[in-house]
Amino acid sequence: MMRDYESKDGVMNIAGIPAPEIAAEFGTPVYVCDEARIRENYRNVHDAFSRYMDTRIHYACKANTNLAILRILEQEGSGIDAVSIGEVRTCLKAGFTPDRIMYTGTSVSDKELKEVAELGVMINIDSVSEMERLAEIAPGHPVSFRITPGVGSGHSDKVITGSKGSKFGIPLKEVVSTYARANDLGFDIRGIHAHIGSGGQSVEPFMDMMQVLINLVNEIEELGINLKFIDMGGGIGVPYKPQEEEMDLNELASELTDMIQMETDIQTLILEPGRYIVCDAVTLLTKVNDVKDSGVKKYVGVDAGFNTLIRPAFYDSYHYVAITNKFGKACTNRFDVVGPICESGDYLAHDRVLPEPEPGDIMAIYNAGAYGFSMSSNYNSRPLCAEVLVNDGKAELIREAETVEDLWRHQRIPERLM
Ligand code: LLP
Repeated sequence: MMRDYESKDGVMNIAGIPAPEIAAEFGTPVYVCDEARIRENYRNVHDAFSRYMDTRIHYACKANTNLAILRILEQEGSGIDAVSIGEVRTCLKAGFTPDRIMYTGTSVSDKELKEVAELGVMINIDSVSEMERLAEIAPGHPVSFRITPGVGSGHSDKVITGSKGSKFGIPLKEVVSTYARANDLGFDIRGIHAHIGSGGQSVEPFMDMMQVLINLVNEIEELGINLKFIDMGGGIGVPYKPQEEEMDLNELASELTDMIQMETDIQTLILEPGRYIVCDAVTLLTKVNDVKDSGVKKYVGVDAGFNTLIRPAFYDSYHYVAITNKFGKACTNRFDVVGPICESGDYLAHDRVLPEPEPGDIMAIYNAGAYGFSMSSNYNSRPLCAEVLVNDGKAELIREAETVEDLWRHQRIPERLM
């Protein structure tokens, strides 16, 4: 079931703090991150798999790269799945040692390969061309290969990555010859990787992908290459709607580890969950600026738009919404919740029943922790918003809101235009 919040006197509380108080103290929009929930999610997924075999969780930090959140996961013992030199350096800054980071890029430049290799971070190679280039840049580097499993799954076509013909990974028919070539090139070959996509809700595609990986592990072993790990990528979905079921982690873990243990000598499983770890740990608070009846539809205009949370506009994603200061109050009408961006596609929620909204109300957008802040932008010259960490009744700023001056900081006006 979707995460629910504590209600005190008709007000939503997050980690023991009334949501409107957080909004008043730090301003809106603001992303509110619940530390205990992040830790709990990490432990859930780690323990579900570790019960069956040696498992390493590599948090897919693209979901949320705030340094404080990375610190929490570093303390929990997580590793990192990084997709860019920016993510690698951010995680080093947060205290992860290079051996806990794996770099999985796509369309990777020589410059980035060199920088990542020099930092001592393992590289998960996405193409034959990348392998040949890396062999010149960093001979003998520790590597694994991302393969295209021919199995895809996800909440939107935009995030399905594993299907045949995908831009990601080594095509199936070239995998074995690529491992042979990598061996000839003298790479330190560690494992094999695949990622089906993001936000899928069923176990089957993971099993289909795992069968593909297992068959490859055994074919590669015939070349005399013994892989140390299988990395099954990320993609564990979470419930965004009140009645949606959670994926059965125990079923997923027992089925997958069973397959690995029955059919291979692989000792270590790697998982790269992003969404599962941070999604329901973060709430976006946004203030109602305006309420409007168009004659066709009623609108609640809030101060967060697709510049703050792009998922509804970009993927048509559903995020549950509530009015924090009228929490649990009777609903009056249906509303679209829309932002301040000057495009009709700017919305956070369509057709939701809500208690009568008024300017000044504080709304909560649920499940905003994964790909929320990390995909936010400055469109319409709106500064990026603040992030706050809440724990045990206390709230701390973990990212200042930008100012308009920040938007000008890296711009130059040629003298002749002055
Ligand atoms: N590993 C790899 C190689 C990935 O490409 C991804 C996500 C993950 C792990 C983590 O997947 P997760 O566990 O979070 O599903 N912006 C989209 C999601 C894009 C996911 C991209 N890759 C969204 O807002 O739904």
